Amino acid sequence: MNAIYLSGTGNTKHITELLFSEIGAKGNIVPIESPDVNDALKDDELIISYPTMFSNIPYLVRDFINKYAADWKGKKIFLITTMGLFAGDGTGCAARLLKKYGAEITGGLQIVMPDSIGDCKALKKSHEQNKEIIRKADARIIEAAGQMKTGNNPREGLSFWAHLAGLFGQRLWFYNKTTGYTDKLKIDPAKCVGCGLCAKNCPTNNIVIKDGKATASGQCTMCYRCVDFCPKQAITLLGKKLYEQPCYEKNAK
Ligand SMILES: Cc1cc2nc3c(=O)[nH]c(=O)nc-3n(C[C@H](O)[C@H](O)[C@H](O)COP(=O)(O)O)c2cc1C
Ligand code: SF4
Ligand code: SF4
Repeated sequence: MNAIYLSGTGNTKHITELLFSEIGAKGNIVPIESPDVNDALKDDELIISYPTMFSNIPYLVRDFINKYAADWKGKKIFLITTMGLFAGDGTGCAARLLKKYGAEITGGLQIVMPDSIGDCKALKKSHEQNKEIIRKADARIIEAAGQMKTGNNPREGLSFWAHLAGLFGQRLWFYNKTTGYTDKLKIDPAKCVGCGLCAKNCPTNNIVIKDGKATASGQCTMCYRCVDFCPKQAITLLGKKLYEQPCYEKNAK
């Protein structure tokens, strides 16, 4: 089994790695933007994981599934989504698309983790609260891995009821946010020192450094990785002001 993940601030990467090791899987875990996905896709059994965005799949993940449409037939896929609070059918959205291309969905997990949106004050939690969220998430993964080893895979987010919850709970109202990449990333040229960290880490190559300043175009999948990495706090996306730079490693300490 191999795993392919998208992770902006590290939550999904951590959860994927933990589940992988707890179930004793032996393959490779690769980020979705890596050229190694071509090799990872050769395995018939895969974990695919990503953060929930507006109760939907990040556009990069949708694009990826569509791009490899011919490769999914007959594959057994276990889906994981991480979320700040409410995913609805965060796994179900990818499941329906993959099933259309002939994949078999072997199960799903929807795991609450710290919120990755650092430019919205209402979502900010204390360090202790985030640490506790991670502790509970880890415990859930260990429990789920035990279930999976007995052939009893969890199926979170895959039911008809989850579909309704995702649709009416959030997706319908925010649908336009996830139908494509966005051009809404804002980089403050007065703060940017041109270090290039944002450009180097962006999974969609949306940022370039020109004349010593970072500039973004319209290919952002809203992962918040650049917002999190910028040493000068120069980047915002959904909000106008940065309140924190959420990151799994910092939250888990
Ligand atoms: C653009 C955006 C939209 C999000 N929408 C949701 C949401 O609908 N429901 C939710 O519970 N969390 C939502 N989140 C929070 C993330 O899903 C959550 O923090 C996730 O664990 C981040 O994973 P990562 O660190 O692997 O990127 C959203 C985050 C972003 C950046
Ligand atoms: S990480 Fe921040 S400071 Fe560095 S190039 Fe990007 S925007 Fe500028
Ligand atoms: S521009 Fe930033 S938020 Fe958008 S995809 Fe790239 S790293 Fe993620």
